[in-house]
Amino acid sequence: MIKMNNMISDYPKNIRNKFKELFGQNPLIARSPGRINMIGEHLDYNMGFVLPAAINKAIWLGIQKRDDDTICIHSLDYNDDFHASIDAISPSGKLWPDYILGVVKQIQKTHKLSHGFNIVFGGDIPPGAGLSSSAALECAMGFALNELFRLDYAKMDLVRIGQAAENEFVGVKCGIMDQFASVFGKKEHLIRLDCRSLEYVHVPFHTNNIKILLFDTRVKHSLADSAYNERREQCEKGVKLIQEYHPEVKSLRDANQEMLDLYVKTVDDTVYRRCTYVVSEIKRLLNGCEDLEKDDLISFGKLMFETHAGLKDLYKVSCKELDLLVDLVKDNPDVLGARMMGGGFGGCTINIVRAEAAEAIIEKVSDAYLSNTGTEMLVYEVGIEDGTEVS
Ligand code: GLA
Repeated sequence: MIKMNNMISDYPKNIRNKFKELFGQNPLIARSPGRINMIGEHLDYNMGFVLPAAINKAIWLGIQKRDDDTICIHSLDYNDDFHASIDAISPSGKLWPDYILGVVKQIQKTHKLSHGFNIVFGGDIPPGAGLSSSAALECAMGFALNELFRLDYAKMDLVRIGQAAENEFVGVKCGIMDQFASVFGKKEHLIRLDCRSLEYVHVPFHTNNIKILLFDTRVKHSLADSAYNERREQCEKGVKLIQEYHPEVKSLRDANQEMLDLYVKTVDDTVYRRCTYVVSEIKRLLNGCEDLEKDDLISFGKLMFETHAGLKDLYKVSCKELDLLVDLVKDNPDVLGARMMGGGFGGCTINIVRAEAAEAIIEKVSDAYLSNTGTEMLVYEVGIEDGTEVS
C-alpha cells in the first residue's frame, strides 16, 4: 500500500528558494486548497445545492512583478517552464499553463496589467484525482494577481474569474463548486452552497471519532471532459422539454419527478434518467443536511451510498474501478458512507469511516484493489481547512 503523508508542506519555503534562484526576488505567495464534496454531485450547474469543503492539500503560487511585459512561469512539480507575452495570450499547447493564462485573460477583460510577472508554483493536490487541483491553481492565480496589482476584486469575483477561465480558456463547462470551495473553505466546516442564489452557510463538521479517507483509483478515463459537457447538455435538454409546459422552470432545481415522468420520459429516456438522478440528489442533499444537524452520520452515510448508485446507474459517470472501491466497503459497518466523488470516470471515492477501524479498512481495501486491478490505489486522509489566502 502506498500512503501519502500529511506533513506540513515545504512548498512555501521551496517556492521562495526557487524564486530567489531563478529571479532574484522575494515573492508574494497565495495558497489555495483542493476540495472534497460530501454529497450533491453534479448539482452545481443544475442550480441545486452542494456540500463541499476545502482540504489540507493545496497549490502555493509565488508571484512578483517584472520590468518588461513577459509572463515567466516555473512549475516546481513538473520542473517545466512557460513564457508568454502579456499582450498575446493564447492556449499553451500543454495543459498546466492554461489554468494560469486563462485567469490572466479573464482579468484583462476589466484591467490593463501594467507589467509582466514571474511565477513559481507547486502543490500537494494529486492531479487528476478529482480534488480540483485546477480550480485551486486558478484561485491561487486570481488572488495573487489581485494582491500584486491591487485590483480590488471581492472573493466572489475571484471565484467567478476562476470558473470562467476553466469554461472559456480550458474548455470544461464546470459549475461553480470547486472554485467556491477553494476560496470560501473554513477549517472544520462544510459549506452548504445554494448554487442558484449563491447564498451559503458553514456547517460544523467534527472529525473526533471519524476519518475522511479518499481512495484514489489512479485512473482518469479520457472521455471525462467531453462526457461532463454532455451531461450538462442533457440536463439542459430536460429543462427545455419541461419548459414547453412550465415556462417558469428555469433549471432542474425548479423541476420535480412528476414533471420528468410527464414531459421527459416518453421523449428521451437517457435525458430522463440523467434528470431523475439530479432531482433525487437535490432531495438527498437536503435530507443529508438535516442528518448532519442531528449529528446522525449513520443516516448521512446511507445517503452517500445512494448517491453512488444514482451516479453509477442513472447519471452514468462512474467506472468499474470506482464501483469496485465502493463495493469493497459497502457491507463494512465501520464505513458509514462511501461514494465516487467529483466529475467521475476515475479519481477518488470519499469514505467516512470510524477512526479506530481506519487502518484495517485501508489495508483490506488496498489489497483487494491490487488483486482485482493490478494497480496500487493511493490513500489520502484529509482534514478540512481554510480557503484561499495570500501571505
Ligand atoms: C467537477 C466540476 C464541478 C462539479 C463536479 C461534479 O468537479 O468542476 O463544477 O460539477 O465535477 O459535482
